[in-house]
Amino acid sequence: MQQIQVPRKPDHNGTDIGGDHEFQRISLRLLDLSDIDDFMVWATDEKVTRFCTWEPYTSREEGMNFINDKVIPHPWFRAICLGDRPIGAISVTANSGNDRCRGELGYVLGSKYWGKGIATQAVKMVAKTIFKDWPQLERLEALVDVENVGSQRVLEKGGFQREGVLRKYFLLKGKSRDMVIFSLLSTDSQS
Ligand SMILES: CC(C)(COP(=O)(O)OP(=O)(O)OC[C@H]1O[C@@H](n2cnc3c(N)ncnc32)[C@H](O)[C@@H]1OP(=O)(O)O)[C@@H](O)C(=O)NCCC(=O)NCCS
Repeated sequence: MQQIQVPRKPDHNGTDIGGDHEFQRISLRLLDLSDIDDFMVWATDEKVTRFCTWEPYTSREEGMNFINDKVIPHPWFRAICLGDRPIGAISVTANSGNDRCRGELGYVLGSKYWGKGIATQAVKMVAKTIFKDWPQLERLEALVDVENVGSQRVLEKGGFQREGVLRKYFLLKGKSRDMVIFSLLSTDSQS
């Protein structure tokens, strides 16, 4: 399990990530069915799903099916945890064949925890690990809606390079969207 200390930052939502210490620790670990209650916190939140391809989950059963069918068999899916409790998730989806030199990064975080630098730290942790875990990977990429400025900033702070805008690239909830493409190469320097 990877761990990193997250400096506390002023909270945009007026909530606290808890604890009396100056630092809070996040870690990445596998997510399983016993995490369903924590998973449902972000999976049912409309603020979280705004730029995601999926709608907020409406039942625990739907969440259990997702964990069983998609998360557990996924080649690289990790819960972002505070203590041992998942507050979000981050994944790298592998390509195969002639595309196997690249993989796509995705992440979500419960809205109560936004604005504290947690997603940035999680992205940096993945960037440090994934090229070692998957030696065939040369490029980690991420596609972000042009209006999702928070996510774009996370990638910039995580050392990704903004490559450009792919116009009308993607259907999001029935509407074609312009997407910003970011990449990090295995040879890029990482702080
Ligand atoms: C996008 C998301 C992961 C950001 O997580 P986060 O932990 O709040 O991000 P961080 O705290 O690491 O923020 C990194 C930077 O982005 C900025 N930022 C974060 N959210 C922002 C927003 N909504 N608007 C403007 N800036 C924002 C922060 O201020 C920070 O910049 P700074 O250090 O220069 O001040 C989170 O909002 C989320 O889960 N959103 C829903 C799911 C999603 O959109 N996933 C990405 C799909 S591509």
